[in-house]
Order: sequence, then structure tokens, then C-alpha cells
Amino acid sequence: MGSYPLKLNAGTARYGRVQVWELPIRITHWVTAASVVTLFVTGFFITYPVATSTGEPFNQFLMGRFRQVHFAAGYALLFSFLLRGYWFFAGNKYSRSGVPLVWRKSWWKALYGQIVEYMQKVRGPVTLGHNSLAGASYFLLVGGLGLAQIATGFALYGETNPGGFWDTTFGWVIPLMGGPFRTHMWHHFFAWGFLIFVILHLYIILFDSVRYKDGLISSMFSGDKFYEDGDIDNDDWVS
Ligand code: HEM
Ligand code: HEM
Repeated sequence: MGSYPLKLNAGTARYGRVQVWELPIRITHWVTAASVVTLFVTGFFITYPVATSTGEPFNQFLMGRFRQVHFAAGYALLFSFLLRGYWFFAGNKYSRSGVPLVWRKSWWKALYGQIVEYMQKVRGPVTLGHNSLAGASYFLLVGGLGLAQIATGFALYGETNPGGFWDTTFGWVIPLMGGPFRTHMWHHFFAWGFLIFVILHLYIILFDSVRYKDGLISSMFSGDKFYEDGDIDNDDWVS
């Protein structure tokens, strides 16, 4: 570990390349990202319906279409989460770096180290997987909010078919939340959490990719990240 000066002239640094993100991680990242953006946009059209649309009424199914796209994206999010959950167990060690391993002392040490690292002018220690702070934000703000949206969303969706699959699977959420109206309001409230996440996420990945010069953004396409001497051993809190 230990810190060393920020390399302003990256040309003098010696870089290696390693595959960090396996294909399922990259696929689920982009499916999750695309479905969340679609759900957010179509969701707010459900909140504020386009009351007057022009043209012949019998050609129109505008708000119905918004709901249909919302539900299709809801299914995409659900399947993406199922695959990502499975890959937590089946994937390489970096696929577990997105989860706060709070029961391990080494995770708390890494968290403290990361906070200190962000406040300093020096580069390092650098992790190859998600750093512990980033992992906590994915787990809580995407995993937690996503599960809350899936549970409340599919419960509301199931209301149109009482006794059907979704009503049976998630119908219990509605009384738990205090009835259909409150479930609906929670679903709306949680939606705003994603906006906060996406703003922070986009800022931080840009910040990190400039600071660490590790090819962070392209890594979500290619799977590969770049490292300098000394970066490679800092992921010892995940296994
Ligand atoms: C242009 C848009 C985006 C880009 C370039 C991007 C890029 C990235 C990168 C580089 C990472 C790895 C960062 C790290 O190691 O800490 C990451 C992780 C992640 N991003 Fe994004 N992201 C984008 C949009 C989104 C959106 C809209 C969401 C969902 C709301 C999202 C959710 C996540 C999640 C959940 C992870 C953790 C992945 C995992 O462990 O499976 N991203 N993203
Ligand atoms: C990122 C995830 C999601 C976001 C951001 C989101 C957002 C929203 C928003 C903002 C609304 C409008 C609520 C209102 O009237 O104010 C809505 C409605 C709805 N969403 Fe989602 N949603 C998500 C996931 C899901 C999922 C997975 C389903 C499952 C099928 C779902 C099903 C529904 C249903 C059924 C409604 C209509 C509720 C009603 O008519 O009362 N949503 N969503």
C-alpha cells in the first residue's frame, strides 16, 4: 500500500492491463442503466399524463404505450438484477467488490483509506475492482432502491390481475406499505433517489478516470482496466 506522488506525466508510468469486468457485469450494467433511465422518464409521464394529444382518438394509445414501455423496462430491470445477483457468486473477485462487506474489518479499513485518499493530492492506494465507497453507493442506491421499485412496482402492476402471478408474488407489499395509494407514493418517492445516484455516479466516474488514469470508463465496455506498479494488491478486502 502506501501513497506515492500524483503522476502528472503519465507517459513515464509503467502500465499493465488486466480484465476486471467479465461479460455479465458489463451486460447487466448497461441493461440496468438503460432500464432505469427508461423507467424514470416513462414513470414521470405516468405521474403527469399528457392529457390532450392531437389527432384521431381511435389511433391513439399514448399513455397506455408509456405504461407498456414502463412495464417492459421493469421486466428488463428485474432480469438484470437476477443475473447480477447470480454473478456475485459465480464471477471473479471484482464482481463482489460492489457489496459492502461490513462484517470484515478489512472492508472498514479500505473505506477509511478511500475517504482519506479522496481528500489528498496524492494518487493511491488504487483499487482494480469498485472501491469500497463506490461499492456501498451501488449496493444501497441502485440495489436497495431497485429492489424497492421492483417490489412496489410489481405489486401495483399485479393489482390489475387479482390472484395472478404478480399479485401473488408481490401483493403482500401493498398492505405492508399502508395501502395502494401509499405504495404508489413510495414508488414515486424512491424514483427521485435514482436521479441523485446518476448525477453523483457520472461525476465520480469522470473524476476517478482523470485522477487514476486507469481507463475506468472504457472498462465498462471492454472489461479491461490499466494499473501502475503497486495498484494490483489493493483489493485484498474482497475474495
Ligand atoms: C453514461 C452513463 C454511465 C457510464 C459511463 C457508467 C460507467 C460506469 C463505470 C465506469 C462503473 C465502474 C465504476 C467503479 O469501478 O466504481 C460503473 C458501475 C456501475 N454503474 Fe454505471 N455508468 C453509467 C450510467 C449508469 C446508470 C444510469 C446506472 C443506474 C442507475 C448505473 C449503475 C451502475 C452500477 C450499479 C454499477 C456497479 C456495477 C456492478 O458492480 O455490477 N450506471 N458505471
Ligand atoms: C428504476 C425503477 C423505477 C422507477 C424510477 C419508476 C418510476 C415510476 C414513477 C415515477 C411512476 C409514477 C408514479 C406516480 O404516479 O407519481 C411509476 C408508476 C408505476 N410503475 Fe414504476 N418505476 C420503476 C420501476 C418499476 C417496476 C420494476 C415496475 C414493475 C412492473 C413498475 C411499475 C409501475 C406501475 C404499475 C406504475 C403505475 C402506478 C399507478 O398507476 O398507480 N415500476 N413508476
